[in-house]
Parts: sequence; structure tokens; C-alpha cells
Amino acid sequence: MEATTFVLFGATGDLARRKIYPALYNLFLDHKLHHSFSVIGLGRRELADEAFQAMVERSIRDFSRREVNDSASVRRFLKSFRYNVLDVGHTEDYLKLLQRVEQQEESMGSSPNRMFYLSVGPEFFEPIALNIKESGLGAAKGWKRLVIEKPFGHDLQSAQALNLKLSEAFSEDEIFRIDHYLGKPMVQELDVFQQTNPVLHALWNNRYIANVQITAGETVGVEERAGYYDHVGALRDMFQNHMLQLLMMLAIRLPKDSSADEVRYKKKEVMEALEPLEEADIQFKVIRGQYTAGTIKGKPVPGYLSEPGIPAGSMNDTFIAARLTIDDPFWKGVPFYIRTGKRMKEKSTRIVIEFKEPLKQNSSAAEDDIPNLLVFEISPNEGITLQLKARDPQHKGKFKAMHIDFHTRSIEVPEAYENLIYDALHGDPSFFAHWNEVELSWKWVQPILNAFDKNTVPLHPYAAGTFGPAESNQLLAKDGNHWWLDS
Ligand code: BG6
Repeated sequence: MEATTFVLFGATGDLARRKIYPALYNLFLDHKLHHSFSVIGLGRRELADEAFQAMVERSIRDFSRREVNDSASVRRFLKSFRYNVLDVGHTEDYLKLLQRVEQQEESMGSSPNRMFYLSVGPEFFEPIALNIKESGLGAAKGWKRLVIEKPFGHDLQSAQALNLKLSEAFSEDEIFRIDHYLGKPMVQELDVFQQTNPVLHALWNNRYIANVQITAGETVGVEERAGYYDHVGALRDMFQNHMLQLLMMLAIRLPKDSSADEVRYKKKEVMEALEPLEEADIQFKVIRGQYTAGTIKGKPVPGYLSEPGIPAGSMNDTFIAARLTIDDPFWKGVPFYIRTGKRMKEKSTRIVIEFKEPLKQNSSAAEDDIPNLLVFEISPNEGITLQLKARDPQHKGKFKAMHIDFHTRSIEVPEAYENLIYDALHGDPSFFAHWNEVELSWKWVQPILNAFDKNTVPLHPYAAGTFGPAESNQLLAKDGNHWWLDS
């Protein structure tokens, strides 16, 4: 790892406090930061370096996954944090920033590399990137990188326009687009798992897999983000990025020891093979829902339309389920069911793979209810379970489920942001979204956005605290399937 100046736009924001500082602190504790690593935080309001350091300290005390009890190491960590006021639209502020960065580089023992981290609203991505270029900040002696949070565009056209602008200041190799799902340890296992385990590798295709079910359920509602969320909905907020990334990571077929380029190339291939939805088909393959009042963990919660800040009559989607198919030799004929929603029954992201059962046609309906499943629990629990249909020794002629379980509960695993920041600092783009993937995802999603705009897809209500509208179950029932593990 090389000496780096970490220039953070949006340094007083929520994401920085909840995720970025705690991630940096844990990397520091694990000796994964260079001794000449330094941070320059940027924000609109005036803040002295000491006040900024105090804010960072509070953030790590509140949000670090490890308890913060060693004041000496906290002091050593905070020592390299500085703050600069910056208005993203003011060119002169970037010139002042350049001076500060150069001073910092000198005082930290000349660190020639610069990482620009944009933890700000998407409307600022373009002006920041262009000002970095024009001010000379981008002319680092070593490497320069741009780390950018989602959302990357609001639709296909705006994503393309944004990418074009960013590419005036940074090359594709220098842009690290964060999709924090790719930083989750269990997601990072997905490709390795089937690539390095001959048992799974052999089964990873349409000969053995009946269907794949990907769920990201949340119990929270719109929280304080009504303004943002009512504009984007579940399709843009979760599906276009996180959910399609999970699909790519699962369906990817990799040769052993693949490089980052190969991983991203193969993900692109998955997206290219994803069958587009015809306009007339969308209403049968995509279910959109919006939560109504209900109960979550025994507590009554209001419906979406009663949330503060949501306009009356909003048709925004808070739930999406879709049936996708991949037209390649490995996956042809295997439905991928994906769903995500707010105010669902449980907070859980998981992938369930249902295997085909050769004897299914000959067995009775009751026996059929014990499927052979491979379950990846991604969050909040992390683990892998293999459920196998086995004889029930206590009931002659009957079957029961046998479970082989691996859970990481007792193991300290790094958080997504630790993995991602570490990789970006090392220039490893394997778990960042390449422009090709982002563009192909928008291309796939765009017809659905159009159909929502034209209102040709019904908006189904679902009570908060459920697994979404009943129509989402029918989506699978039409194929003779159902969502496993909803209980
Ligand atoms: C974010 C979305 O990208 O992911 C949020 O904007 C959502 O709406 C969040 O709540 C979910 O992330 P996680 O890691 O809690 O599943």
C-alpha cells in the first residue's frame, strides 16, 4: 500500500460518519493504512481541524464495529485528519484545496497519490470531477483515483451523460464506482465459491439448478429520505444496482485465478445475456408494490402515503419483484426471481438456489415440499446452508430436511466499506461496478421505468410487515415455484 492523500467530499455527511470513518479506523487498527496516509475532509461549513477530528472521533465511537477504548490509538488515527471548507461550485476553493493537499503531502513525507472520494449528492459528481481536473488537483505525481457513490444516473440517458463528463477528468481505470453490496463479505465469496469448489462448480448450471431466488428485504420505511426516495423508488434505489450486481456475481462463470479484468468482463457477459423484457411482457414479469400501514415486530407503522414528505397519491414503488432469464448455455431455462422492498417482514438479504429433483414427478406433493436448497445469507447474518432432503428415521416412508450449516456469527468480519476502501487504495477494481455493467443494467431496467411512467404496470399495495404483495407469490406460482424461507 502506498502513501495516499484521501480527499473526502461530503466529510460532515451521514455516510462519512456512519461508514467511511469507522471503516478507515478499522483499517488503521488492522495496520492496513500506510503510515503516510492522510485525510482532507471537505464540506460547505467552516470547521477547524480540531472540531473535525472531534467529529470523526464521535463517529468512530458511535459506529465502529470494534469498541473504541484505546485513546492513544485514536489520537494516532486522528492526527492525519484535516478539514477544508469548499463550495463545490467555486473554482477558487479548489485552488486553495490544491495548496492544502500539497502542504499535506509535504508534511506527511511526500505522498504523491490522491484518492478523491465523492460522498455527496449525485448532482455534484460532474462539477467536482471537472474542477479537480481544471484546478490541477488531478495532476498528482503518483496515481489519482475517483471513488464515487451511487446513484450513478437517474436513467440510461443521464448515466451515459454523467459517464461522458467524468471521463473528461478520469479514465475508466481511475473510476471506482461503489456498490456497497459488492463489498459485503458473503457477496465476495459468491464467485470464489463456485470457482474453487468442484462440487459446486459442477452443479452451477441449468442441468441441476431449478431456479434462483434473490431477496433483499428491509424493515425500515423511507426514513428521513422522502425527497430522495419518492423520486427513485425501489427499482432505481436497489434493483438497478445492488440486485443486478448480486445476479451477476451469482451467474458469473469464472476460470480459476481470474484477474479483476476477467471478473468484470464475465459480469458484462452475464448482463449481455440477460434477456430483455418486451414492453408487453413487463406487467407479467415485474411486480411493483407500495406499502400500506401494518405492523413490524409488534409495532404499528404508517403506510407509505402517510410518511412525512410523501406527496398525496404518489405512485412510487417501494417493492419490486421480477422474473429474469439469462440466455446462455449455463442458465437457459433457469428463472432468476429477484425481489426487494421496504417495510417487509424482516431485514434479510439472501440468495436461495433450488436444485432440481430428479424424482420429483414420481413423489407425492407432501414430499415435494422439502427441496434441496443452497442458501447464501448475505446480511445481517452471514452464512451458507445446504438443505438436503433426507429420510426421516422416525417416520417410516417420510422425508425431512437435513441442514449443513456454516455461519460466521462468531468471526469478526470486516464491513463492506472496509473491503471497498482497502481495495480502492490498492487499485483493485474487482468489486467495483465497471461502466459496462452500469450501462447494461440501466439498459435492462429502462423499459420498466418507461412502463412505470406510462402506468402500464399495476401498483399493488402490501401491508407493512409482510413479504410484499400477493402478486409476487403468483409470479413464481405460474412456474410451479414459490419463495422459500418466508416464515
Ligand atoms: C442503499 C439504499 O443503497 O442500500 C437504501 O439507498 C437501502 O435505501 C440500503 O436502505 C440497504 O443497504 P443494506 O446494506 O442495509 O442492505
